[in-house]
Amino acid sequence: MRDIAEFAQAPWNSARIDGIEATETVPTMLAAEEQALYAWLTGHWMRDLGEVVELGSFVGGSTARLAAGLVAAGRTAHLHAYDRFGCSEGLKETMLYPAGIAPFEGTDILPLAHALLAPWRDQVTLHPGRIEKQSWDGGPIELLVMDASKKIPLMDRMAATFFPSLIPGRSLVIQQDYLHWRTPWIAVQMEAMADWFTPVAFVPNDTVVFLNTRPVDSAALLAGQVAEMTPAARLETLRRARRRGRALGYGHRLAQSIKAMKANPDCEAAFRMRAPG
Ligand SMILES: C[S@@+](CC[C@H](N)C(=O)[O-])C[C@H]1O[C@@H](n2cnc3c(N)ncnc32)[C@H](O)[C@@H]1O
Repeated sequence: MRDIAEFAQAPWNSARIDGIEATETVPTMLAAEEQALYAWLTGHWMRDLGEVVELGSFVGGSTARLAAGLVAAGRTAHLHAYDRFGCSEGLKETMLYPAGIAPFEGTDILPLAHALLAPWRDQVTLHPGRIEKQSWDGGPIELLVMDASKKIPLMDRMAATFFPSLIPGRSLVIQQDYLHWRTPWIAVQMEAMADWFTPVAFVPNDTVVFLNTRPVDSAALLAGQVAEMTPAARLETLRRARRRGRALGYGHRLAQSIKAMKANPDCEAAFRMRAPG
């Protein structure tokens, strides 16, 4: 079985995933190394001990990379991708049209996501709608990919819905925006749950990967409810996360998140965060 110690060599950068070329037509916000990580985790690291859940799929770019790994490895695990599948005109202009998507009317990108993900349709289910309205009764989750923590209440809700289905000692949580200054609360939550999660990899630009180490029970969820924490407690927890992150080489990146949280102490939504001076 592949060991976490292997992560130090970043094996995803040199691994071969058969059929990965087919993902190149699916636009994604992920950086190149993050794309490689996603495909490697499903293609090489997973053991079919549970499902793959992805929160924040956009038009399916990350979904395609995850699915390509599943298919290349012949896995039985299924990929469940959640998103509201809506897109603004601005995002169409910056993300979709430059990537070769033909211009279209309206905000609904669910049909587009279905079309782009057609090569992997047997192994992927899309769950459209607000994630905070969703539930999970699909059994153990071996890989949980989080890229929708744009608001504190939503992040807390996702933790409550999905974390209890993680497999202790095995499941990984991919925190896509962990190091982004606009979402400093992700690092607060994972640090507040340090008795249940330990960081195992840092992948530029903004991703930190966590191993789930203990069953996530009500005590764990209570500890990780960032909405219940005071601004001072959030800041102190973020400072602890920075200290912990030094071992994996990303601690310094949290300096900007700390500045951002100081400049926006009560802010709970990424789009309202003002850049720190
Ligand atoms: C950064 S994008 C995801 C990018 C994607 N992983 C990729 O590879 O391009 C974040 C996504 O989270 C989704 N999202 C944010 N809040 C949501 C909510 N409350 N319910 C459903 N989806 C949400 C947005 O629709 C958006 O597509």
